[in-house]
Amino acid sequence: MGIPKAFLAYVLLVIMFRQTVQGSRQPACHFNDLMALQGLSRSLESNIGGWNWDSSSCCSFTGITCGNSSVLNERVVRLELGNKRLIGTICDGLVGLGQLRILNLSHNFLHGTLPTNLFRFRNLEVLDLSNNCFVGSLPAVIQLPSVKYFDLSKNSFTRFLGVEFCKSPSRIRYLNLADNLFGEALLSLENCTSLRYVFLNGNGLSGTLLENLFLLQHLRVLHLQQNWFSGPLSYRIGNLSNLVELDISSNDFVGSLPDVFGRLRKLESFSAGSNRLTGLLPVSLVNSASLSRIDLHNNSLSGPIRVNCSAMTRVVSLLFSANNFQWPVPASLSSCRSLRNLDLARNNLGGVVPFEFKNLQSLQFLSLGNTSISNISTALETLQHCRKLTILVLGLNFYQEEMPSNVNLQFTSLKALIIPACHLTGSLPVWLSRCKTLQLLDLSWNSLEGSIPSWIGKFEYLFYLDLSNNFFSGTIPKSLTGLDNLVHTTVLLKESSEHFSLMKSTGQGGTGPRLRYKDMWSFQPTVDLSSNKFTGPIWPSFGNLNNLHVLRLEENNLSGTIPDSISGMTNLEGLDLSHNNLSGEIPSSLVYLSFLSAFNVSFNRLSGGIPSGGQFLTFPESSFEGNDALCSTILRPCRPQRIPPLVSPGKKMKMKIVDWNFGIGGALGFFLTVFFCFKSGWVLPRG
Ligand SMILES: *[C@@H]1O[C@H](CO)[C@@H](O)[C@H](O)[C@H]1NC(C)=O
Ligand SMILES: *[C@@H]1O[C@H](CO)[C@@H](O)[C@H](O)[C@H]1NC(C)=O
Ligand SMILES: *[C@@H]1O[C@H](CO)[C@@H](O)[C@H](O)[C@H]1NC(C)=O
Ligand SMILES: *[C@@H]1O[C@H](CO)[C@@H](O)[C@H](O)[C@H]1NC(C)=O
Ligand SMILES: *[C@@H]1O[C@H](CO)[C@@H](O)[C@H](O)[C@H]1NC(C)=O
Ligand SMILES: *[C@@H]1O[C@H](CO)[C@@H](O)[C@H](O)[C@H]1NC(C)=O
Ligand SMILES: *[C@@H]1O[C@H](CO)[C@@H](O)[C@H](O)[C@H]1NC(C)=O
Ligand SMILES: *[C@@H]1O[C@H](CO)[C@@H](O)[C@H](O)[C@H]1NC(C)=O
Ligand SMILES: *[C@@H]1O[C@H](CO)[C@@H](O)[C@H](O)[C@H]1NC(C)=O
Ligand SMILES: *[C@@H]1O[C@H](CO)[C@@H](O)[C@H](O)[C@H]1NC(C)=O
Ligand SMILES: *[C@@H]1O[C@H](CO)[C@@H](O)[C@H](O)[C@H]1NC(C)=O
Repeated sequence: MGIPKAFLAYVLLVIMFRQTVQGSRQPACHFNDLMALQGLSRSLESNIGGWNWDSSSCCSFTGITCGNSSVLNERVVRLELGNKRLIGTICDGLVGLGQLRILNLSHNFLHGTLPTNLFRFRNLEVLDLSNNCFVGSLPAVIQLPSVKYFDLSKNSFTRFLGVEFCKSPSRIRYLNLADNLFGEALLSLENCTSLRYVFLNGNGLSGTLLENLFLLQHLRVLHLQQNWFSGPLSYRIGNLSNLVELDISSNDFVGSLPDVFGRLRKLESFSAGSNRLTGLLPVSLVNSASLSRIDLHNNSLSGPIRVNCSAMTRVVSLLFSANNFQWPVPASLSSCRSLRNLDLARNNLGGVVPFEFKNLQSLQFLSLGNTSISNISTALETLQHCRKLTILVLGLNFYQEEMPSNVNLQFTSLKALIIPACHLTGSLPVWLSRCKTLQLLDLSWNSLEGSIPSWIGKFEYLFYLDLSNNFFSGTIPKSLTGLDNLVHTTVLLKESSEHFSLMKSTGQGGTGPRLRYKDMWSFQPTVDLSSNKFTGPIWPSFGNLNNLHVLRLEENNLSGTIPDSISGMTNLEGLDLSHNNLSGEIPSSLVYLSFLSAFNVSFNRLSGGIPSGGQFLTFPESSFEGNDALCSTILRPCRPQRIPPLVSPGKKMKMKIVDWNFGIGGALGFFLTVFFCFKSGWVLPRG
């Protein structure tokens, strides 16, 4: 009954389509395909732009391609709707597209589980459903005998039961299941022998899956990072002789690295950071002729770093930070002529920067932070010869040495100089003024003193300045408020996306700076002069820095008023002026700083009302505490008039009976203080 009807409809449709096709030369499309597409359209909550059901042929729809051979004429062979902002689910009926070769619905907002028969396309070669919100498990039976490219990455799938994934001889070359929630994978890939690219990273995978990956002789790229794989790394990894890229970082591998890199003759990139690896660097690893990038950061590897530069002719990046490597900074590295990135931070190297490092003419990034090295003069004099050096990190070394004031130092390409937490003495050196390309300067947590010269405002590209926690004094140079890159355009450092260990001073709760793995681009435009001995006013021209995001001036001795014009810093997100000697009112124009999320003016001598409205509705009371004459509806009512500030505590105790507790506390505190002062010999010398 249904059949003849459907047949009739089919014939009619075909005739209709044929007729229009004659005019448009656009092929009609097969009835099954039309039905399947209508089903898809119905299960979506959003419209698919360019699908016009009045049109005679679905072959002209956006994202649809019909076959061009006589066999596939009028059959849909490609359905490509990637990045079309589609919302909704996928329906069962899609399988009606019997001749489909390419299905691409990636980069949409599709959700729900996948219909089981989606995995029964006999002719499907490319399946790309990546970057959606699909959930659930993948079915046990996956029959995609023609599939070569299979991408379900960046969804929320939980289980893969596809034991028979490559049951029949399979042609699959590309498998991407990355960034899902596959915890339990019963997936077995041992028979998927044509696989070239495998991405399983960013799941919760563990167990034996690894074992059968070692049988995939043709593998070129294997990404296993961010899983729970554990145990020692098998020697059988050396069987994967076609590997070009191997990433096993952020797992729980233990033991030493197998000495198999001599067999991985095509390997160019090896990442094993953030595991619990121990032992020495394998001889074959540091003699590899193919490797250009090695990342072993955050393990417990030890021994000397004996990279053989005569053998490693292609090496570009060596990231060895946060291990237990010992003995001096390896001078032999200076023969690696193509070395661009060298990160040895947080190892116990000791000694000085070897003189030979001046030969590293390709070097762009160097971190030797927290490596127990000494003699900052030698370090800077040597490294200034590295003409391409862009980012230099030397913090947490050179304990209590003097900042070299040698005027001959010159760094021609330097964009970031990061030397915090060295207790360096001396003043801001003049040679810095000739680092014209500087964008980021961090000299925080040292013991530098003197005033800041006005050339600090002449750096054309500077956008991040941290001189906090030193002993700088005098007024803040006015020229600072004219920093070109903060007044006009903000050009941020975009050197590399690699995770370098850069020092970032936090200083919260007196903990001092920490070593952090940070991307360069995550540094916000900042001026941090906090915890120094600056005096004088906050210049009204600070308002010119309209690209500044963070301004920290707390814990100084700045006086005068908060200028109204600082509301010109329209991009400001953080402003800390606490623990100064500022007076007057908080300018009400600050309510227009719509990005301001952290604000602190506590412990000053401010008076008047706290502005209301804007972001000020979100700041807690502690942002304003310690200003006796500030008032607001939350903190203290502005009227009736407050009792004027007291002259001496004694007077108040007599005057106000209500403050009994305060009086007792104050008196007790006073006597205790006096007692301890005497006891400790601070007032009268002991004995
Ligand atoms: C048919 O399509 C294939 C790819 O889909 C293309 O390589 C081929 O050139 C096309 N043939 C004709 C006659 O258009
Ligand atoms: C699928 O479509 C997206 C968006 O158009 C595109 O970026 C991606 O490369 C396509 N996938 C394949 C396998 O061609
Ligand atoms: C792989 O193929 C072999 C031989 O055809 C078969 O015995 C084995 O069960 C297959 N393994 C899987 C996991 O499909
Ligand atoms: C894999 O490596 C092991 C030893 O590391 C070796 O015994 C075995 O034959 C290799 N298998 C293949 C297929 O090459
Ligand atoms: C270092 O590795 C451990 C695991 O070995 C991990 O827990 C930790 O988060 C890693 N630290 C960094 C800074 O990557
Ligand atoms: C370093 O590599 C060169 C070239 O491959 C080789 O001749 C030399 O023996 C190696 N040196 C060491 C110490 O392994
Ligand atoms: C640093 O090295 C130079 C040259 O070897 C030497 O003259 C100087 O005294 C050293 N400085 C310190 C602080 O050790
Ligand atoms: C410096 O390195 C040592 C180990 O060498 C480590 O214990 C310490 O936490 C590191 N300090 C910082 C601030 O990273
Ligand atoms: C703060 O600066 C004023 C002068 O503006 C000075 O009188 C006062 O002693 C300074 N206070 C401290 C704690 O340095
Ligand atoms: C605050 O400034 C006034 C005058 O400007 C000064 O007398 C006073 O000592 C300063 N207070 C502190 C704590 O420095
Ligand atoms: C403001 O600074 C004071 C003093 O450093 C601190 O106690 C308070 O928690 C800070 N408040 C906010 C909101 O940051």
